[in-house]
Amino acid sequence: MDSHIILIGFMGAGKTTVGKNLARKTGFPLLDTDHLIEEQTGKTVKWIFEAWGEEEFRRLETDVLKTLADRPGDWVLSTGGGLPMKEENRKLLGQAGMVVYLKAEPETVLNRLSRDRNRPLLAGSDRKERVESLMAFRGPVYESGAHVIVKTDGKSPDAISDEIVSALFAKNG
Ligand code: S3P
Repeated sequence: MDSHIILIGFMGAGKTTVGKNLARKTGFPLLDTDHLIEEQTGKTVKWIFEAWGEEEFRRLETDVLKTLADRPGDWVLSTGGGLPMKEENRKLLGQAGMVVYLKAEPETVLNRLSRDRNRPLLAGSDRKERVESLMAFRGPVYESGAHVIVKTDGKSPDAISDEIVSALFAKNG
């Protein structure tokens, strides 16, 4: 049986870093929904938000997920932070593999993204407030779509990946 590990969670929770670590550890290729959208459109996520709008970006996310569902072989998938907000997407993810929610406190996220200027949803002032309210809204949704929840605050990417690999072994036997 192919193993598919799917990382969900807020911007700055560590999905990309942990995804790279997991890919190294398991030898599975790393896929990333933001990168796949950028490859397919030839545009950056930031550009798509500004020029085509968030709704179009969300449509592209669902398209990408549908193509991944049939992708054979083992893989690790890092997803955009807003992708699991659509019920259709949560269903597709749940069917595609083991969904792991990387859970982080707002302080962790704010620290990690303090210099980031590429997240359209965090542009502008009041970043702290925005992160806190968006996380309060999204947290329960991530939890509802996850098979496994891993807290990431204060942990190294290596330690987080070890937890995920153990969960995968426990699931697949
Ligand atoms: C988004 C998260 C981003 C990216 C886009 C929207 C979100 O991905 O998909 O900026 O809605 O949380 P990361 O979670 O990898 O930052």
